Amino acid sequence: MAATAPTDFTNSVVVTDEVAEFSSAVVEEMKSHLVKYPPERKRSALIPLLFVVQRERGYVDNAGANFLAKFLGLEVTDVWETATFYSMFNFRKIGKHHIQICKTLSCKIVGEPEITNHICKRLGVHPGETSVDGKFTVTMVECLGSCGTAPMMQIGFDYHENLTTEKVDKILDSLK
Ligand code: FES
Repeated sequence: MAATAPTDFTNSVVVTDEVAEFSSAVVEEMKSHLVKYPPERKRSALIPLLFVVQRERGYVDNAGANFLAKFLGLEVTDVWETATFYSMFNFRKIGKHHIQICKTLSCKIVGEPEITNHICKRLGVHPGETSVDGKFTVTMVECLGSCGTAPMMQIGFDYHENLTTEKVDKILDSLK
């Protein structure tokens, strides 16, 4: 397959036939996920395996997706349709700390815009960008299921809730 131009959605991702290679230890780890599911339901392991690919390669790229398609006996479009559904998978290089700010209604009406402006101003970025030092990427995401403690954001795997600008400053100060 010839390389194709990136789309808005895939950003810098370019489609290629390249297939990622992983160490035998990582392949064994992937197999340990596979055995949790019936042999005819290998696709069910896709999400944990996407996490492994993201950890190993920094983000889910074409080569990693191609590997998973082969590994699971799927079409590569099956891999992408799952990966692109979830905001926890990244398709480009991101900063050390991934700040995902919920932009959905409950958060929006109790202060999300102020929180977003404060974070972006402090880091010198716009939503979707990574700080110059490579430390922080800010992404706007849909509801993270914590509406009762809005406004909220997720950094890595941690939720930070009932945000105020003061609380945000403390959180950012604590991140090395
Ligand atoms: S609307 Fe923000 S967590 Fe649900």
